[in-house]
Amino acid sequence: MQLDVVTLFPDSIDWFKGQRHVRNALEAGHEVRALDPRPHTPLTGRQVDDTPFGGGAGMVLRIDAMEAGLRGLYGVDPVELAQQRRVVALVPNGRVLDDVLVDELVQEPAITLLCGRYEGFDERILDHFVTDRISLGKYVLAGGELAAMVVMDAIVRKLPGALGHDESAAEESFSSELDGDPEYPHYTRPAEWRGWDVPPVLLSGNHAAIAKWRREQSRLRGQADPGARLER
Ligand SMILES: C[S@@+](CC[C@H](N)C(=O)[O-])C[C@H]1O[C@@H](n2cnc3c(N)ncnc32)[C@H](O)[C@@H]1O
Repeated sequence: MQLDVVTLFPDSIDWFKGQRHVRNALEAGHEVRALDPRPHTPLTGRQVDDTPFGGGAGMVLRIDAMEAGLRGLYGVDPVELAQQRRVVALVPNGRVLDDVLVDELVQEPAITLLCGRYEGFDERILDHFVTDRISLGKYVLAGGELAAMVVMDAIVRKLPGALGHDESAAEESFSSELDGDPEYPHYTRPAEWRGWDVPPVLLSGNHAAIAKWRREQSRLRGQADPGARLER
């Protein structure tokens, strides 16, 4: 799979590329590329953004600069590019990322993630150059780079061979193996700490009973209000 991040700050993706599971995926033949559109801008002074029509604070990413950037990077009209591969804009008001969407994205051979900065994209970029608008949630980040890394991280974990033998992406929170429920609780040594015991079934060695307990715990978590767990 080819994961491209189109960003004005390509160095920001370096840390992500250095993570063990990402390196595993790269060694398995997958690609993660941070692509800077700025060198392709037709505007003087490497300009890529401008003040908003109608007034207001901040700068908006220009469609001519983004078109030249995507053309320069891919050698095709961005309208065509969006017919050839999934082109995702990271935006606060898009489809909120969840495991169902990640499962959909992991099937793609190639994805391009467009990172906004400042006030975001000229709306015509979203209307004509992208196939999807994805959000991490209803809050505002300073730029799309962290959001792109979150999207890629969720995808890469599901690529065969990315996780080590000790980890598995199969029976995880929200997976179909758990019918979309959150994962069950985990415990490790010591079995008792300050009077806080591990559930005895986990020490029983009875694998059927453990599987049943875990499934029940998952289901209970799925029914619980996650916010309530923050109250003490
Ligand atoms: C400061 S934000 C722009 C916010 C925009 N002016 C608004 O009020 O909706 C700059 C960029 O960060 C990214 N971004 C911010 N919040 C995001 C979120 N919740 N999910 C995904 N990307 C986000 C987008 O790429 C956005 O263009």
